[in-house]
Amino acid sequence: MEPEPSFPSPSLSLTSRWWSKETVAIVTGANKGIGFAMVKRLAELGLTVILTARDSERGLAAVEELKAQGVGDRVNFLCALDVSDPASIKNFVAFFRTTFGALDILVNNAGVSFNEIEEKSSRVVLEQAVAETVINTNFCGPKLLTQALLPMFRRSSPNYVTRILNVSSRLGSLNKVRNSDIKRVLRSETLSEEDIDGVVSLFIENVKNGTWKTQGWPEYWTDYAVSKLALNAYSKVLAKRYQGRGLSVNCFCPGFTQTSMTKGKGTHTADDVACLGANLALLPHQHLPTAKFFLVSAPPLSPGIGRIIVSSNSKL
Ligand SMILES: NC(=O)c1ccc[n+]([C@@H]2O[C@H](COP(=O)([O-])OP(=O)(O)OC[C@H]3O[C@@H](n4cnc5c(N)ncnc54)[C@H](OP(=O)(O)O)[C@@H]3O)[C@@H](O)[C@H]2O)c1
Repeated sequence: MEPEPSFPSPSLSLTSRWWSKETVAIVTGANKGIGFAMVKRLAELGLTVILTARDSERGLAAVEELKAQGVGDRVNFLCALDVSDPASIKNFVAFFRTTFGALDILVNNAGVSFNEIEEKSSRVVLEQAVAETVINTNFCGPKLLTQALLPMFRRSSPNYVTRILNVSSRLGSLNKVRNSDIKRVLRSETLSEEDIDGVVSLFIENVKNGTWKTQGWPEYWTDYAVSKLALNAYSKVLAKRYQGRGLSVNCFCPGFTQTSMTKGKGTHTADDVACLGANLALLPHQHLPTAKFFLVSAPPLSPGIGRIIVSSNSKL
């Protein structure tokens, strides 16, 4: 898979700085891992950042840690945000509306997986409750939060572009799906939110009746892969709806990163990924694409920022 030759270099962000301390970014699931590192990087670059966490104590502790590292002054914690809980989303958005009111960047990062790194093939058992938690956290939550925040994205001038970066995974790529009917639905130029909800409901139904292994869903980390498949598809629908209307929507796969989700394994650190992710989220307005799937890759056994690259080899 070759990167697109026209892909704008993420380092452009550092040479043409368009943002200020008035620029507001929200990062979900940011008390640790990639989300925490993204908040740190965005704050280092001078933005105002809302660090969110589902647990207030963990969120406040993360802000304290950033303060101790000298970047906490521009970091805010408003209230707990559990993205799998619609009431929590509503509460957070109401709080954000009264305290900030306008938003420039949303990084939907919060995510869960109950799979083991060593798992190479499909699991024997997948409980419905587990599948529902994964889908609610990784797909329904980001979608609900995005919808609730959409009216608050800043519209300052015709050339100004606000941004959504959905932290996704290459495990949710369409080429992992072996069921041609599902592929056809998700590839369609007329794909709608209802179609995506239909695909997700079908998956949950298959889990419920125990047929999920034979229906052509992604083989590896199946529930997680379906949740990211749906997130990618939703990003595509949203990007199309807002094309040319001042909102860019892209997905970003951080690659195999050393966090709790991977039990500390990975080819690179969350800080490495956050540098690349922040650069993408901050691309100059005229260079910012939409409906792209960016992915970070590292050659095996070659960790380090110097050796990881970000590329966009596919449209969503
Ligand atoms: N690490 C990788 O190799 C890798 C690869 C591809 C994609 N990703 C994606 O990268 C993103 C970040 O993952 P990570 O590797 O940084 O994992 P991580 O260290 O486990 O962090 C996940 C974060 O999401 C939060 N979270 C989980 N459920 C939540 C909920 N219902 N509401 C709000 N926050 C919730 C966690 O909070 P708690 O501390 O409260 O649990 C934590 O802050 C995820 O979307 C993941 O799918 C990671």
